[in-house]
Parts: sequence; structure tokens; C-alpha cells
Amino acid sequence: FEIYLNGLNDVRPPLPTDLTRLEALARERLPREAYDYVAGSAGTGDTAVANREAFRHWRIVPRMLRGVAGGDLTTRVLGTDLPAPVLLGPVGVLNIVHPEGELAAARAARSLGVPVVLSTAASHTMEEVAEVAGPRWYQLYWPGDPELAVSLLERARAAGYTALVVTLDTFTLAWRPSDLDNAYLPFLRRVGIQNYLADPVFTAKAGDDPVLHWAGVFGNPGLTWDDLAFLREHWDGPIALKGIQATEDARRAVDAGMDGIVVSNHGGRQVDGAVAALDALPIITHAVGDQIEVLFDSGVRTGADVFKALALGARAVLLGRPYVYGLALDGEDGVRHVLRCLLAELELTLRLSGHDHVAGLSSDDLHEQR
Ligand code: FNR
Repeated sequence: FEIYLNGLNDVRPPLPTDLTRLEALARERLPREAYDYVAGSAGTGDTAVANREAFRHWRIVPRMLRGVAGGDLTTRVLGTDLPAPVLLGPVGVLNIVHPEGELAAARAARSLGVPVVLSTAASHTMEEVAEVAGPRWYQLYWPGDPELAVSLLERARAAGYTALVVTLDTFTLAWRPSDLDNAYLPFLRRVGIQNYLADPVFTAKAGDDPVLHWAGVFGNPGLTWDDLAFLREHWDGPIALKGIQATEDARRAVDAGMDGIVVSNHGGRQVDGAVAALDALPIITHAVGDQIEVLFDSGVRTGADVFKALALGARAVLLGRPYVYGLALDGEDGVRHVLRCLLAELELTLRLSGHDHVAGLSSDDLHEQR
């Protein structure tokens, strides 16, 4: 109603409330290389498209006359109380779309009590972001140098990041034609390596070419399930594995004593032709949903999308590109706009579908239409 009331004074929202429209606006505003880096995906973009199509295959079945009192979005994930089942997902190099990058995103999230998952590839250090952030988790790109890994984890803990999200699907960047055609990689221009440059272990070994050293330590392709014990040793909070797409891997995460998984294909940015993330979700939650906390990302654009992911068993979703477009268009206010629209639509969808709490959602609320 706030928006309609403002309309009585001829005040309209500064950005579209249909969040799927932000991408086209960001395209007009951003330098081409930056837009392509954010919007681009692996290969032909097949998986990125499939991520969105999968949402259309699941239709909400609203129920009537259920005496809906309120629309309670609160939940608890990996030891953090959330005002809504949504977090800002880890997106690195945000300075390519706005000079305040991760700082602006963290401020917007904090104003709504929404947690941020800060990327290892952020363009501001984790300590700088911690100063302006509310609830916060840390996303680790597990580097090839174990001493550096420990140092990043110790810094994150000291800066008040409470849960760890370890991204497994990106030990190297994939075949991304738009970036290849632009011959553009932010890291080589020293955007997104700030957390390395601020690290004592990294700088002690980097010599006089830190970018080259970064390229050598960024990825760790030799990791196996056995290595997860190392993380447990060096991180005493909850741990979630991001990039899980196979049921068998979800089971292994349970066996390894992990606290959570993020069902994700990195927004279709890694393996072109990979299974749509939302299609993987119900199979995985069916197998392990009662043994581990399942989070979800890749393709979430609207409140109705969040509803569907929750109904298919996710505890919460990570938001990706939409908040980056909000940031590109209007900085901190743009991110806040995206979050407020998403949460308001989720709350309305919940109530109009006959529910007063997100915990009540299940696959009974959806109809699969192929
Ligand atoms: C990402 N993502 C990502 N993930 C991660 O774990 N660490 C990171 O540094 C990044 N960086 C990053 C940059 C950009 C520009 C994008 C678009 C994405 C992946 C992100 O967390 C999430 O998985 C996807 O964004 C989800 O897909 P959608 O919803 O954005 O399509």
C-alpha cells in the first residue's frame, strides 16, 4: 500500500517493481564489459535459460478459505535468524557495476535485517564490509595454498562472519564467450582480488606481481571429499557447500558432517548444458532434506520464484543477479528496492496461496506442468 499511497502524491517507484525488467535497464547504463560479465553465462547460455524455464514448469496452486492471519516469512538457517528466507548471495567484483560495490549491498541488506554472503572475490575487504554489514556469512573460494585458506578463515571469523559457504563449482572460470569476446576479466585489472591483497599470508608470498600470484593460488582443482576435514578443523561455525547438483554429492555432504548445501549451478555460469538448478532441487531435498539444511540459488527473480523454491524443500534462497542490477541502477537504494519488492511479493504470494507461514509450504502447493 505504501507505493499506492505515494501515488496519491504523484510519487512512483524509482525502479520497476517487476524485477525481471532491471536487466535491460542495467544493460543501457553499464559499460558493455561490466554488463556482459554480470549477465553472461557459460557456453551458449543453455543452462542459464533452463534455470528460468524450470520455474515456469512448476505452477502454484493457491488454496482458499484458510483463514489466513498474517504472512510470516521468518526462518532460521545455519544458526542465523532471518526476517525472510532470502540472503544476498556471494557475488564478487561488485565495483565493476558501482563504486561502493559490496559496501552498498551490505548496507541495504542490513537496513532490512537480511544477511549477506560475502564473496572471497569481493572488491572490498571482508573487514571493510563487516563494518557496515548486519548479519553476515563468508563465501570461500578455497585457495590452493592451505596457509592462505586458514588465514582467510581466521580473518572472516575475527570480522564476525558466522557461517561459511564453500563454493565448489568454480575452481576455475568456465568457458564464457561474452567475456572471452571482450577479452575481459576483472581480476586481471585488480578488481576482486582485494581480499587477497589485504591478506598477510598472500602478500608475504606474492612477490612483485600479485595478480600472477593470485592466478596461481585462486583455484584448487585437486580437492576431494576427504579435504573437508581440514575445513572443520579451521572453522568452528556452520559450513555449507555451494554448487551441489547431484543427489550423490548431497549425500556425501551429509556423510561429511556438513551443516548445509546450496543447490546451485552458479547461475549457469560454469557448465553449459548442466541440469536446471530448480529441477535438481526436489530430487535432492527428497533424498537429504531432513538430514541437512538445503539452500537454493540460480534463477530466482521474483517472490513467486522464492515461494516455489521453498515449496520444493529449500530453507532459503540466495539472490544473485537481480540485486547486482539494482546496485548498478541505484546503488544502496537500488539493492534495497530489489529486496523490498521481492519480499513484499513473496509475502503476498504466501497469503494469497492460503498460508500464513513459510514453514507451511510443501510440494502440495505446486503443480508440475511439463
Ligand atoms: C556470481 N556467483 C558467485 N558465487 C560465488 O560463490 N562466489 C562469487 O564470487 C560469485 N561471483 C559471481 C559474480 C557474478 C557477476 C554473478 C552473476 C554470479 C554466483 C552467485 O552466487 C549465484 O550462484 C548466481 O548468481 C545465481 O544465479 P542467478 O540467480 O544470478 O541467475
